Amino acid sequence: MHATRTALVTATLISAIIFLGMTADSLRKMRARTHSDQISAEVIEGKRLWQHYDCNDCHTILGIGGYYAPDVTKSYSIRGEAWLRQFLKDPAKMYPAGRQMPNFRLEDSQVGALVAYLKWVSEIDTNGWPPAPQGVAREEPGGHRIFLAQHCNTCHAIEGSGGTLAPDLTHIGSQKSKDWILDQINNPRGHKADSIMPSFAQLPETEKQELADYLAGLK
Ligand code: HEC
Ligand code: HEC
Repeated sequence: MHATRTALVTATLISAIIFLGMTADSLRKMRARTHSDQISAEVIEGKRLWQHYDCNDCHTILGIGGYYAPDVTKSYSIRGEAWLRQFLKDPAKMYPAGRQMPNFRLEDSQVGALVAYLKWVSEIDTNGWPPAPQGVAREEPGGHRIFLAQHCNTCHAIEGSGGTLAPDLTHIGSQKSKDWILDQINNPRGHKADSIMPSFAQLPETEKQELADYLAGLK
């Protein structure tokens, strides 16, 4: 009886010590992993706006929030700064069909703060979570569909529809080859070192091919 009790107490103590040790280790690494030293006044303002506008009602960030709209934990690193700024000013324009995000009529300074906040969040070491950017809807194949689903139209217009941050692509096929376009999709900075165009290298190969075929066909 006594021996069993000693064994149980010892096991509990050892577990407690391991648990406390691991907790201390996590806390010790927390500062580096969250890079909390990078929290500027603008980042704090962005977080305040995030709460003020209840962005969490629709979006998940760092594992918390709604499932209606995409997880935005890594949006900054996937989309890039230029895209986010353009998008937040007029979200509906980027999604001509389907679900739309309300336009909050944000001031430029508010957009700046939200982008600073999203940048800070995207740089937190989340051990690779979320695993991959949201994919392209499968049901409707076709290059133009992928072009819209990846929001290329935030920056590029085709036949009058789309943004003006980047060259119009209406006749891109008569200027560039399919291979050149594929290179641009995979690595825009290979063509222009300070390009603001995000890389889409993470897309499945078949989708990149389809997109490049479609664009190369725009003569
Ligand atoms: C009523 C729901 C709703 C609210 C509230 C909302 N969003 Fe959105 N958001 C959306 C939808 C819908 C999309 C587009 C998703 C799609 O069509 O796949 C989106 C897309 C985005 C994206 C682009 C994500 C990506 O990488 O594609 C960002 C960034 C974003 N929202 C930020 C915000 C911020 C910041 C707020 C608060 C100021 C906010 N959202 C509030 C519904 C919402
Ligand atoms: C954030 C804005 C942005 C987004 C989003 C974007 N691009 Fe671009 N893209 C640019 C800019 C800016 C250029 C001009 C060259 C440069 O600066 O890299 C460019 C250049 C190009 C070119 C060459 C145009 C020419 O006339 O030489 C192609 C093709 C292209 N992009 C395709 C795409 C495709 C396909 C997507 C979506 C998968 C996309 N882009 C998304 C900004 C963007």
